[in-house]
Amino acid sequence: MAQETTGQFDSLLEEGRRFAPDPGFRARANFNDEGVYARAAADPEGYWAEQAQELSWFEPFQTVLKWDPPHAEWFVEGKINAAYNAVDRHRKGPRRNKAAIIWEGEPGDQRVLTYDMLGREVDKAAHMLRELGVKKGDRVTLYLPMIPELPIAMLALAKIGAAHSVVFGGFSAKALHERILDAGSTLVITADGGWRRGQVVPLKANTDQAVEGTQVRHVLVVRRVGEAAGARMVPGRDIDWQDMMAAMPTTPVPAEPMDSEALLFILYTSGTTGKPKGIVHTTGGYLVGANTSLRSVFDLKEDDVYWCTADIGWITGHTYVVYGPLTAGGTIVMYEGAPDFPDRDRFWSIVERYGVTILYTAPTSIRTFMKWGPHYPAAHNLDSLRLLGTVGEPINPEAWMWYRTHIGHDRCPIVDTWWQTETGAAMIAPLPGLTVTKPGSATRPLPGVFAEVVDEEGKPVPPGGAGYLTLTRPWPSMLRTIWGDDDRYRRTYWERFPGRYMAGDGAHVDEEGYYWILGRVDDVINVSGHRIGTMEIESALVDHPAVAESAVIGRAHEVKGQAISAFVTLKEGVPIEEELVVQLKQHVVDKIGALARPEEIFFTVELPKTRSGKIMRRLLRDIAEGRALGDTTTLADPAVVEELKRRYEERYEERE
Ligand code: WTA
Repeated sequence: MAQETTGQFDSLLEEGRRFAPDPGFRARANFNDEGVYARAAADPEGYWAEQAQELSWFEPFQTVLKWDPPHAEWFVEGKINAAYNAVDRHRKGPRRNKAAIIWEGEPGDQRVLTYDMLGREVDKAAHMLRELGVKKGDRVTLYLPMIPELPIAMLALAKIGAAHSVVFGGFSAKALHERILDAGSTLVITADGGWRRGQVVPLKANTDQAVEGTQVRHVLVVRRVGEAAGARMVPGRDIDWQDMMAAMPTTPVPAEPMDSEALLFILYTSGTTGKPKGIVHTTGGYLVGANTSLRSVFDLKEDDVYWCTADIGWITGHTYVVYGPLTAGGTIVMYEGAPDFPDRDRFWSIVERYGVTILYTAPTSIRTFMKWGPHYPAAHNLDSLRLLGTVGEPINPEAWMWYRTHIGHDRCPIVDTWWQTETGAAMIAPLPGLTVTKPGSATRPLPGVFAEVVDEEGKPVPPGGAGYLTLTRPWPSMLRTIWGDDDRYRRTYWERFPGRYMAGDGAHVDEEGYYWILGRVDDVINVSGHRIGTMEIESALVDHPAVAESAVIGRAHEVKGQAISAFVTLKEGVPIEEELVVQLKQHVVDKIGALARPEEIFFTVELPKTRSGKIMRRLLRDIAEGRALGDTTTLADPAVVEELKRRYEERYEERE
C-alpha cells in the first residue's frame, strides 16, 4: 500500500510550511480553548452529551451511549426531530425572518427563504406527503437538482418521521432503479429536469425508466425547467408538486417526536463490490455530529453567509448544506449549476454577490480553478471570506497554497476535513482558532474523535509511520448499519481489525501527531471527490455483449485526483474498433451515470493476473500512467502482456 502512494507521500514529507491561527480569529472563535481536546479525551461521553445540549429535545436522553460492538446507540431514550431543530425552533425567536436559504439557479434566477418562509414550505410539503400516504418509517427516494425543493422535501419527510434516500442527479436511470428497489420506496420525488451548463438534465425521463418494475406508486414532479424538459406526466401516477402544494394549508404540522435512534436517512455509497451500500444514519447522534462541527470546525456565527458547494446528493450536502448549518441557525447559499456557466468566474461572482464568509469546496474544484487561472477570482471582491474548507480527497499542498493565496488572500484559515459517508460528519480536521495547519494535512482528530493508524496486524504504527486509518471509539454520527445487510456492515468495517472501525483509507501520522490521508486502500476510486467502486464499473462493462472480462483502476489525474482507466478483453471474434470505445463508455454511463465514464479504454487479449488469479492492478496502473510501457496500443499482443508481467514480478509482488 505504501508503494502505491509513494509519489504523493514523498511530496507530503517535504512539506514544512505551517500556519498558526491569527490571534484576532482565535479570540473570536467558537472553540478557542485548547483544553477541549483533553476534556473530551478524559470523558468523551460527557463531551458529546454537552454538545447535544445545543439541540432541542422533546424528551431528554437517559443514556449517552450504549455500545454493543459494532452497534452503537446514542442519546438513548431521547426524543428529537430533525426538522424541528433545523427550522421550527428558529421560527420562534429572532431568527424568524433571517435568511435560511439564499438560492441561485444556473440561469441566474434567485430565491431567498427566511426561516419562517422555509418552515411554511416544509409544513405544506408535510401535509402533501401525508396526503400521498407517506407514514412514519417509510422511505422516499429523492432525485432532484439543487433547488430549494430538495431540502424542503428532506425536512418535510423528517418532520413526519419518514426517511429520505437522496440519489445524486448525475446517476443513471439504472442506478436510480436499484436504489429505489433496495430502499423499498413507494414514492419518488423528482423534477422535470435540472440545469447543468445550459443543458437540461433529464431527471423525469430517467425516473420514468427507473420506476419500471418497482413498488413505486407515485412520482411527485417539481417543475423546474418547463417546456424544454419535454417531461411527460403519467396520469394516476405522476403528481405536479407546484399544483398540489398550492392546494395545501399552511397550518403547522407538529414535528413527530422521534426516537434518537430512528432512521433519518439512507444514502448509497460505493464499496468494493458491485452493489452500492445503503448507509444508515439515525437522528439524534447524526444531528449532534453535524451541528457540533458547524460550530467547531466551521466556526459558524449568527451573521455568517455560509456556502458549501457540494451537491445534496452526497453526504457533504446532507451534513454541510442541510442539517449542520440549518440546525445551527445559519444562512446558507445554494447554487444549482456548473462553476463555468456562463463563465469560469461563477463561484467568485456568487461569493461577491451574497458576501459569502465561509466557503467549503473540494480539491478537484480548486485544481480546476488553478488551471483556469487566478484572474477569474481576482476579478471579484472576495473580502467577505473569512474561512475556507476542503473535503473529498487528499489536497495536494500546491492546491492548498493556491486556495490560501488566491481565494483566502492569506488571511483565511483553511480547514481540510477528513470524513466519509459512513462517519456522517467531519472526523479529522483543524479547529480554526486553535490548530496550526500544514498544507496537505487534515491535522488532528476532532475533540471526542479517536483515530489510530495501524499496520497489517492491527498494531498502531509509531509517529512517522503509515498504515490503515482506523477509529477506535464510537462517535455520535457514525453509520448504524448497511440498509438490509447488517452482515456486510460487520464485514466491511469491523472484521479486519476487531474493535476498530476501518475507514478504508491509508494515512501517515507525522512526529507531531498530524494525519496525512493517502487515499483509498481498497478497490474504491475517488474521481473528482466522488467515490466509485471499481467493481461497479467492471460489472457495467462486462454487461456489454462484446466484453468478456474487464479490470478498472484509478490512475493519477491532475485535476480529477483520479481518472478511470478500463482494461477490456473482448469476446472471441469481436473486432477492436474505435466505435466500440465510444459504445463501451456510453454503456457505463447508462448503467451508472456520467460520473463513472472511463477516461480511456485499453483493449487487451488477456488481463495480467497473479498465479492465484488476482488481477495485477498495480501493473495496470503503471500502464495507464505510462510507466510500464510507452505505447499502450501494442497491449493487444499477448506476448506483450506476458513480458510485462515478467518484468513486473521481478520488481514487485502484487499484494493482497
Ligand atoms: C476521501 C466525503 C483526504 C477518503 C465526505 C474517504 C478525503 C472518502 C478527505 C469518503 C480529506 C474525504 N482528505 N481524503 N479531507 N475527505 N476523503 O463517502 O478517501 O463521499 O474515505 O465522503 O473520501 O468519501 P465520501
